[in-house]
Amino acid sequence: MDITIKCKIEIVWFQFGKGRVKKVKPLRDKISILIIRYNKHMISRDTVQQNLVNCLIGSDFALLGVKRVGKVRDCYTKQNKRIIVVTDRVSAFDHTFKEAIPFKGQVLNQISAYFMEAAGTIVPTHIISLPDPNITVAKECVPYPVEIIVRGYLTGHAWRVYKEGKRKLCGVVLPDGMKMNQKFEKPIITPTTKPDEGHDEDISRQEIIERGLVPKLVYEKIEEKALELFKQGSEMAAKRGLILVDTKYEFGDYNGELTLIDEVHTPDSSRFFYADSYKENFEKEYKQKQLSKEFLREWLMDKNFQGEEFQSVPALDDEIRIDVAMRYIELYEIITGREFVAEIGKPIEKRIEENIQQYY
Ligand SMILES: Nc1ncnc2c1ncn2[C@@H]1O[C@H](COP(=O)(O)OP(=O)(O)O)[C@@H](O)[C@H]1O
Ligand SMILES: [Mg+2]
Repeated sequence: MDITIKCKIEIVWFQFGKGRVKKVKPLRDKISILIIRYNKHMISRDTVQQNLVNCLIGSDFALLGVKRVGKVRDCYTKQNKRIIVVTDRVSAFDHTFKEAIPFKGQVLNQISAYFMEAAGTIVPTHIISLPDPNITVAKECVPYPVEIIVRGYLTGHAWRVYKEGKRKLCGVVLPDGMKMNQKFEKPIITPTTKPDEGHDEDISRQEIIERGLVPKLVYEKIEEKALELFKQGSEMAAKRGLILVDTKYEFGDYNGELTLIDEVHTPDSSRFFYADSYKENFEKEYKQKQLSKEFLREWLMDKNFQGEEFQSVPALDDEIRIDVAMRYIELYEIITGREFVAEIGKPIEKRIEENIQQYY
């Protein structure tokens, strides 16, 4: 159980909902009162702190097949299966940090599986099974070399570009007069390239097709599916009092079938805001509470790091590692409505080894 108490200079009504006390509306501009967020399930900061030394930084399971190390995942390929080990590594601005986040791999893997299950009604997904909290066994697909970013709101990278005065992003024209975190009339798609090395770059639909990165008909289907997935994810989030702000999808080909791969609606690939405080924060131009990697990005930007070569990389101290872990776990519990069950007491590597024997 974990209780956070915040103070604000206003009087508010409370509505006692399931597991959380929600602020309903301000009464009058008077003095202070408490807002209590009560999370029934959350594991404690102390437990997270104790597990700072039990993070999965890397893996070495040669018997699982050919290994490829990504920023966050170690993938092993054998025949037509891909065993994805979701580590506790964290990357931001294309830099992978040497300090890991306790339970991050498990949160990512389990949130993704939760949404993949629902996504299966829209498009085939790569999931075969989850033999361990940090592992997904998936269909080995041929990935399309683009990342499909769907944005419902003007935030993050899109806002940073807009703020500089640009009104076109990835071929999409943006209207004048928009404010930070404002909702778009309709979600927009702003793809990026997915180079083997170097930074991802913005690209337009036209260029993707002209450069032959994805065949035209496939790309059109990808866009259609991405918008359907975003609608589904937004509805699932709304039921839990959250806004799915934007997200990234990856698709691949599996025996000629368009397949959803990688991860879906996780805090690494998406932004989530609380729905109940969105409007007030938006109107007052306050920051929204970030249940996503944007929280770490903001911390890094405060420390003058945005992934540029000339900038020195700040070390992630224990406080920020715990803060990020707590937000990821908070998102897991809110979005799935399930208690986050951490298997502690055994080194992660040992547990994984036991759970993947059948794949050797
Ligand atoms: N089912 C799949 N088939 C083929 N490739 C996949 C599949 N699922 C994920 N991938 C790829 O595996 C990699 C996952 O590693 P990740 O840590 O995200 O690394 P990065 O983003 O640096 O490539 C991604 O490149 C992703 O495109
Ligand atoms: Mg990735």
